[in-house]
Amino acid sequence: MTKIDSENHVKSKNVVTGNDIKSYLNYQERQAIIDSWNAISTEKQKYGTILFLKLFELEPRVKSLFTIFDFNEPLEDIIQSPHFRSHAMRFMQSLETGVLMGFDKESCDFLFKSLGSRHHFYDLKSEFLDVIPECILHTIKKGCGNNWSNETADAWKIATKVLCELFREGLETKPKK
Ligand code: HEM
Repeated sequence: MTKIDSENHVKSKNVVTGNDIKSYLNYQERQAIIDSWNAISTEKQKYGTILFLKLFELEPRVKSLFTIFDFNEPLEDIIQSPHFRSHAMRFMQSLETGVLMGFDKESCDFLFKSLGSRHHFYDLKSEFLDVIPECILHTIKKGCGNNWSNETADAWKIATKVLCELFREGLETKPKK
C-alpha cells in the first residue's frame, strides 16, 4: 500500500463525538493506520485467527452464532477448519477496505452499514461489538511488535470507532427484505 499525500486527507463532517474520541483521522493518523496495516496485510489469515481467538476470549457468547462450529471440539481444530479460515479472511478483507478508505465516515458509510445490516440475520447483538476495538488493537499490536506506539493505538481507536458506529447503525436498522 502506498503512502498517502496530504491532499488525500478528507475531513469528515462528523467531527464531534460523545466519548472523547473524534470520528475522523488526520493525515498522520491515516499514515499510522497504513503503516501498521502493512505490517500484517500479507498475513491476513494468521492475524484474522489471532483476532477471532481474542473475540472468543473476551466475548464467549458470540461462539453460539457460529452454528457451523462445534465449540466442544478443541479450539486448535476449529481454527484450522475451512469455514473458520474463510470467515476470518473475509473479516480482514473488510477491515482492509476500511484502511483503503482511510476510515473516512462518509466513504465507509455504505460498506459498514450494509455489513452491520447483514449481521442482523446472524443474530449479532449490538453489545457484542463493544469488544471489537480491543480485538482489532490487540491484533495490529501483535503484528507491529516494537513499532507499535501510542500514536498508532490512538489512530486505531478512531478507526475502530468509525467502523463500529456505522456497523452498529446498520445492525440496528431494520434490514429491507
Ligand atoms: C462480534 C462481532 C462479530 C461477530 C460475532 C460476527 C459473526 C459473523 C457471523 C456468524 C457471520 C455469518 C456466518 C459465517 O460466514 O460464518 C459473519 C459474516 C461476516 N462477517 Fe461478521 N461478525 C462480527 C463482526 C464483523 C465485523 C465488524 C466485520 C467487518 C469488519 C465482519 C465481517 C463479516 C463478513 C465480511 C462476513 C461474510 C458474510 C457477509 O458479508 O454477510 N463481521 N459474521
